[in-house]
Amino acid sequence: MRSRPLKVAVLGCGVVGTEVVRRLHEAPGALADRIGAPVELAGVAVRDLTRPRDLGIDPALFRNDPLELVKRDGVDVVVELLGGIEPARSLLVTAMEHGASVVSANKALVAEYGAALHETAARHGVDLLYEASVAAAVPLLRPLRDSLGGDDIRRVCGIVNGTTNYILDRMTQTGGEFDAALREAVERGYVEADPTADVEGTDAAAKAVILTSLALHTWLTPSDVHREGITRVTAEDVADAHSHGCVVKLIATLERTADDGEVQVRVHPAMVPLTHPLADVRGADNAVVIEAAGAGRLLFRGAGAGGVPTASAVVGDLVTAARARLLARRTTATPDAATPPAATVRARPMRELRGRYHLSVRVADPTAALDDIVSALRAHDVPVDSVRRRRTAEHDTWLLVTETTREADLLAAVESLAALPAVASAPRFLRILDPLGQEAVVG
Ligand code: HSE
Repeated sequence: MRSRPLKVAVLGCGVVGTEVVRRLHEAPGALADRIGAPVELAGVAVRDLTRPRDLGIDPALFRNDPLELVKRDGVDVVVELLGGIEPARSLLVTAMEHGASVVSANKALVAEYGAALHETAARHGVDLLYEASVAAAVPLLRPLRDSLGGDDIRRVCGIVNGTTNYILDRMTQTGGEFDAALREAVERGYVEADPTADVEGTDAAAKAVILTSLALHTWLTPSDVHREGITRVTAEDVADAHSHGCVVKLIATLERTADDGEVQVRVHPAMVPLTHPLADVRGADNAVVIEAAGAGRLLFRGAGAGGVPTASAVVGDLVTAARARLLARRTTATPDAATPPAATVRARPMRELRGRYHLSVRVADPTAALDDIVSALRAHDVPVDSVRRRRTAEHDTWLLVTETTREADLLAAVESLAALPAVASAPRFLRILDPLGQEAVVG
């Protein structure tokens, strides 16, 4: 027997919002069967009412007053697809105060205000779900929260930004330029309204904060995350990686120190060995490796950006929230305590990271330079594992791989290399991703 219709308001009708509304409009029977009640669209908040939208729904459902929509009596679930912090945050708080559960794909908002939003949801007895905010279509947050809720997760490491993976993949496959690949990513609907959020790593850092809250049970803020984007990755870096049996990827990592006292969360480009499962993640796909004490190593992989895949996760949350609504309870998928309180654990500074590095040192006089380079590295306790020479018509370059070393020592060594007379330009370096199975590098 069917229950009363569940009323859903959608805020935002861009790339993702369009696909969510389309799905609600085109598959009402299937969704009603799975939920146990029909879903009724209460309204879709848009900025521009004059813009033509070919979605086949009653044009009167498009509204340009989102506040009226979230305050309206009888709305069961508000789906927020506006992006950005305000007015999204205020609208979600108002929606929850008025008794609606909320579904959001807004990683920037959840990363910054997740703990406070969970408190609001708990106070008003409603759900707050945001599976689409990390890795789009890939079910990742609910497995972390529920399926792995009884395990101890040591490390999560992966590709969580589709745009940068698309760009780096294009650069790897074609040798093409960054700008051309970024334009293609925009055309495919992967890129944030502000592309710098993708290419400077801000989007991945927000996702890392969300993953940390669920995997390591502490809310950091985006400023706790060490963040480097891909704008400085050159075609030469990509070629160097290839000649070292690696590809360059933007990698997000979060891990606990061995004594559980600190967490280390970072986003940066890295050389990924071709044998690593993250190496062959193509296009805008995302992939995340979770290492847990009991479950061992788990790989989640799939479409990480784009309207239709992201809408899949949004509508999945909507179904979950609607089912709970029918039972007049909150879904168990929402942690009541907002996961443990914010900032109970120290974020370990990046300088204390230990890892291996690939260095590219362009020199004026190669024969004279190598001894000086190796001596400078040794003087800073940076052990060298291998050395290769790359010669082109224009340049002579030493390519060095270090053994495991402390980031602070590596940075000091790079600074002293830059000052050597035989070194022609500032040395470049990339971190090398550890092979799987190695112990956490912080400890
Ligand atoms: N701009 C984001 C990305 C969209 O490229 O991953 C999905 O969060």
